[in-house]
Amino acid sequence: MAAPCSLWMALVLLGALGVLPAPARASEQPGFQRDQFLGRWFAVGLASNASWFLEQKDNQAMCLIVVAPAAPEHGQGVLNLTTGFPRGEEYETRSMLLTPTNTPGHYTYTAPYSGIELQDLWVETHKKYALLYTVCADGTGFHLATLYSRTETPQDAVKDKFTAFAAAKGFPKEDIVFPPNTGKCM
Ligand SMILES: *[C@@H]1O[C@H](CO)[C@@H](O)[C@H](O)[C@H]1NC(C)=O
Ligand SMILES: *[C@@H]1O[C@H](CO)[C@@H](O)[C@H](O)[C@H]1NC(C)=O
Repeated sequence: MAAPCSLWMALVLLGALGVLPAPARASEQPGFQRDQFLGRWFAVGLASNASWFLEQKDNQAMCLIVVAPAAPEHGQGVLNLTTGFPRGEEYETRSMLLTPTNTPGHYTYTAPYSGIELQDLWVETHKKYALLYTVCADGTGFHLATLYSRTETPQDAVKDKFTAFAAAKGFPKEDIVFPPNTGKCM
């Protein structure tokens, strides 16, 4: 089961993932407004402890994210999160369906064919940015914090919020990065 999750991680941009979800985290989850999560984002901040991320953290590129309601046949409240990321000279997109749980802002991602739940995702929304925390539930022990911003250049105050958020999740400062926009994701 490690493989699909690692693969997903490698594909989903610059990201990386995480570990076992402690139920207590659900109550740490502050505000979530679904409407505020929809639309177009730039993934401007990242932190992970996946080894490939740590090796490549200085070579990450900012990517574009689009969050939209999935078609109703996928289930009520399901979101379709599409990530655009550079792959060599090419530009690719990858979509994942996020299934809501009973906790607002908490979603799970299940691998389409295996039916295995691979990720737990917590989303905290704000007007101009969102803080995401993902744990990979496949036992590989990866986790990921991501800052989504409506603009490519978030204010320093927003970056500071993300740094504090990621630090609270256990990421050391040197593993929190703000990838430049290389233009490839546009
Ligand atoms: C998710 O969104 C992408 C990009 O708009 C689209 O190509 C894809 O078909 C959507 N998938 C689902 C299951 O809604
Ligand atoms: C990543 O961090 C999590 C949570 O602190 C930990 O359980 C896991 O073992 C770490 N994984 C790696 C590969 O360092």
